[in-house]
Amino acid sequence: MNAAHTPQSMQGKTLVVSGATRGIGKAIAYRFAQNGVNVAFTYHKNEEEAHRIVQEMQDRYKVRAHAYRLDILEPEQYVELFKQIDADFDRIDCFVSNAIIYGRSVVGGFAPFMRLKPKGLNNIYTATVLAFVVGAQEAAKRMKMVGGGAIVSLSSTGNLVYMPNYAGHGNSKNAVETMVKYAAMDLGEFGIRVNAVSGGPIDTDALKAFPDYAQVKQKVEEQSPLKRMGNPADLAGAVYFLCDPAQSAWLTGQTIVVDGGTTFK
Ligand SMILES: NC(=O)c1ccc[n+]([C@@H]2O[C@H](COP(=O)([O-])OP(=O)(O)OC[C@H]3O[C@@H](n4cnc5c(N)ncnc54)[C@H](OP(=O)(O)O)[C@@H]3O)[C@@H](O)[C@H]2O)c1
Repeated sequence: MNAAHTPQSMQGKTLVVSGATRGIGKAIAYRFAQNGVNVAFTYHKNEEEAHRIVQEMQDRYKVRAHAYRLDILEPEQYVELFKQIDADFDRIDCFVSNAIIYGRSVVGGFAPFMRLKPKGLNNIYTATVLAFVVGAQEAAKRMKMVGGGAIVSLSSTGNLVYMPNYAGHGNSKNAVETMVKYAAMDLGEFGIRVNAVSGGPIDTDALKAFPDYAQVKQKVEEQSPLKRMGNPADLAGAVYFLCDPAQSAWLTGQTIVVDGGTTFK
């Protein structure tokens, strides 16, 4: 959508989203920018791509965009990060906790039950739940100043259906969905809504890193009545819906499942 046709409910607002250099976070950031929303996003290692995205958003969508480095294994970094965002943006309206760890930091967390280790499980919990808590707290302080806002955590259907090796992530996604409900109860009086978007398997780098990626893809294509895997834009639409008060003003404390119909089969 061209910014000139932007619905007024979102134009000129500011989104903060973690992990927008790839996959779902990137699709979310672009979805908001296309609708005239200014975007503050984080990256971890992919600095070059982060700068390219900033440039493209400014040039193509004429929104304000800035990228910041963040390690969600150190959630307290959000405190300083939001101070930097304060210097670059005049308000914060939406916060999306999206970034996820992978590689060495999930060793012992992404494994069959008998190979699970406390360190790997703790890392996944830190990156999923603790990063959501600190990021959402910092965002909520700013949202109170503008009379409200919307917070969304990404989740996944690995807490509803069995996925090999996914116990660590599935448990932490369960935990973050519960944290979302508590946050929604405590922040509602300030006009802040808090929800989660739970995705079925989505074709991203994170999923391609699964050792059984080919089987997962084939199974999803068979299971889904829509006969395809999800893509990042499928989740970005649900996140945008939850952040837009014109569409979801009385929706809080919920998890919206976007799974192509796979979890019922
Ligand atoms: N893919 C799926 O099937 C699926 C399904 C449902 C839900 N989800 C959820 O959707 C979210 C995004 O997943 P995705 O598949 O889009 O992931 P992805 O493609 O692997 O992207 C991960 C993002 O997180 C950043 N990141 C990595 N390590 C980090 C760290 N230590 N600190 C801060 N940021 C870090 C990356 O930044 P750099 O590029 O700079 O390293 C990147 O922007 C996750 O919460 C995931 O659980 C995914």
